[in-house]
Amino acid sequence: MTYSRITGTGRFLPEKVLTNFDLEKIVDTTDEWIRTRTGVERRHCVAEDQTTSDMCVEAAKVAMESAGVRPADIDMVIIGTTSPDLIFPNVATLVQHRLGIPACTAFSLEAACTGFIYALTTADKFIKAGESKRALVIGAECITKLVDWSDRNTCVLFGDGAGAVILEQSDEQGIIGCHLGADGQYKDLLYYPVGASKDLAKAGTDEASIMMSGKDVFKVAVSTLGNVASKALESAGVSQDELDWLIPHQANLRIIQATAKRLNLPMEKVILTVQDHGNTSAASVPMALDVGVRDGRIKRDQMILMEAFGGGFTWGSVLMRF
Ligand code: UT7
Repeated sequence: MTYSRITGTGRFLPEKVLTNFDLEKIVDTTDEWIRTRTGVERRHCVAEDQTTSDMCVEAAKVAMESAGVRPADIDMVIIGTTSPDLIFPNVATLVQHRLGIPACTAFSLEAACTGFIYALTTADKFIKAGESKRALVIGAECITKLVDWSDRNTCVLFGDGAGAVILEQSDEQGIIGCHLGADGQYKDLLYYPVGASKDLAKAGTDEASIMMSGKDVFKVAVSTLGNVASKALESAGVSQDELDWLIPHQANLRIIQATAKRLNLPMEKVILTVQDHGNTSAASVPMALDVGVRDGRIKRDQMILMEAFGGGFTWGSVLMRF
C-alpha cells in the first residue's frame, strides 16, 4: 500500500505588521471591535514590490530543509492561491524555476481560502496513483493587495503569508482521508469582482475590492465546517477522542470555536494563529500547521484534522497522522 505523508513544513510571513491600533488610524474601527468580532490582533502585509512567489520560495526553502530534501528531489509543485503573481504563467512554475527544481508537474489552483486543502488533496492523489514521489505543496496569498483599505468591513480581516509542506510517498500512513466540496450558488456572498475575462479594466480602481456579506458567510461557514469535520472523522472511523489537533482555517475565532464545540474538542487542542496572522486565505492552514510543529505542540504520529472554507463557496478537510 502506498501512502502519502508530510515530512517537512515551513512558513513565511512578510516583515511589515499592521496592528488593530494601526487600523484605528485608517478606518472607523476599534481594536476592541476587531478582537471581539474576529479574534484578530495583528496581521502581516507584503511590501509593494513583494509577490506571492517571493513568499512561496521562502516558505518552501524552510519546508525542504526540515524534510531534509534538495530541490532535485522534488517532482511536483502545487500551489493553492487566489492572488498569483501573474495571470500566467502559473505561480508554481515561477517557484519551481526559482528554487532550481528540475522540470516537473507544476500548477496552481484557485479555491479561495480552501486552496491549500484542495492542493494537498490533489498531491495526495498523485502520490497514491504512483505519479509523484515527493511534492512541494503550498498555500500562499498576497490578499492585502486585493483589499479596499477604506472598507472597514473587510480591511480589518485579512493578512498575507505562505505555508509550505513536503508530501512524500511513504510506507507509513500519513494522509487518511480528504473531503472536498463546493457550491457556486453562494458566489455573490464572497467574491472579487475582477478577472482575466471579466472587467479587467476595473483592476486597480475603487470598484475592484473584496465583496463580502460577512453575516451570511459566517452562518454557512459554521454549519458547513461542522459537517465537513464530522464527516471526515466518520468516514475514517476515527472518534473525536482520537483527535490530537484541529487545524482550522483562521478566518474568525468565533467560527473556529463553533467547529471545536461541534467536535467536542477543547480549545487547547486547536492551533490558533488568527490573532497574529488574520485571515490569510489559502495560507492559513499550512502556516498554522507549521506554527504547531515548530513550537513543539504537534508531534509525529499525532492525529490531525485540517479544514477550510472560502469563496465559491468551497470547503474541505484533510485527516492525517502527522
Ligand atoms: O475566509 C473566508 C470566509 N470568511 C469568513 O468566514 C468571514 C465570515 N464573517 C465574519 O467573520 C463576520 O461576519 C465579520 C467579522 C466579517 C463581521 O462580524 P459580524 O458580527 O457579522 O458584524 P456585522 O457585519 O453584522 O456588523 C455589525 C456592525 C455593523 O454596524 P451596524 O450596521 O450594526 O450599525 C457594521 O457596520 O459592525 C459594524 N462594523 C464595524 N464596526 C467597527 C463592521 N466592520 C466594522 C469594523 N469596525 N471594522
